[in-house]
Amino acid sequence: MSGSSEGLAVGGGNTEAYAVFGNPIKHSKSPAIHTQFAAQLGEDISYRAVAVEDPDFEDRVRSFFQRGGKGLNVTVPYKERAFALADSVSNAARRAEAANCLLPLPTGQIHADNTDGMGMIRDMVANLGWQLQGRRALIIGAGGAVRGILHPLLAEGIESLAVVNRTPQRAHDLVSKLGDLSSNVLAGGLKDVAGQTFDLVINGTSAGLAGEMPQVSGVRLAERCCCYDLFYAAQPTTFMQWAASNAAWAISDGLGMLVEQAAESYFIWRQRRPGTESVIAQLRAQLLAQS
Ligand code: ATR
Repeated sequence: MSGSSEGLAVGGGNTEAYAVFGNPIKHSKSPAIHTQFAAQLGEDISYRAVAVEDPDFEDRVRSFFQRGGKGLNVTVPYKERAFALADSVSNAARRAEAANCLLPLPTGQIHADNTDGMGMIRDMVANLGWQLQGRRALIIGAGGAVRGILHPLLAEGIESLAVVNRTPQRAHDLVSKLGDLSSNVLAGGLKDVAGQTFDLVINGTSAGLAGEMPQVSGVRLAERCCCYDLFYAAQPTTFMQWAASNAAWAISDGLGMLVEQAAESYFIWRQRRPGTESVIAQLRAQLLAQS
């Protein structure tokens, strides 16, 4: 979808309008996810995926809410701009300096939140049953996908965290923003963790999109090491294949995180929490059927 057609859905009858803004957006699963949430809860909403051109983003957001839109998700490449345009922000958005969820306030102002980190934690803990407390964690990557997960991970009581990136300076920049929390956090390049052992390894790089695996040679996986890819695909990602060949104890992609961050957005907008299990299962089945 492009142009200003998202405005047509706003304010139609009793249907409350929601959307996700991004670019590209064609393959977004958010409309399918939120439509299932609403059906499950017996609520009447519309949810559309809208391709927004770069110069228009702020105007399109404001116009959506002025026309009565009830909530927006924001995805690549606009999460930082969504954070910047908001009149008020949650702690999660402030810490990530990025927002994936916008909410209109009764004053006409726009509030920004970030549900990505909580979505990942919920998937790991509630869906996958992973223990995070006391774990030695490694995050590979320091781009947009990683910004929102550092604080939530630290808040779960992990023992130590290493953030490594192909461009080490970006990892240093991210970690330096943690301030007081950075005392047990190491930042560096991909080779700087050679010989170290981890209980949890998270891939936050987009290397898999090109079928590549970041060059993190020499990393040791502990006996019950869990490996999580923030990305997902029909087939196991390159990172998941690497984890399997290194005998990881548990391996997951980020499909559950996608659904959990959506459920948290739904809750922020509508104060009702949809169930996620059947939605994850259905998306997984669809992905497999398409492959
Ligand atoms: P996004 O906002 O989608 O996360 P990004 O900010 O460009 O996109 O970040 C992409 C991440 O994947 C970065 O950590 C990037 O490393 P650099 O900062 O060095 O560019 C990482 N990445 C992409 N391709 C990679 C590859 N082939 N090997 C290792 N890291 C890669």
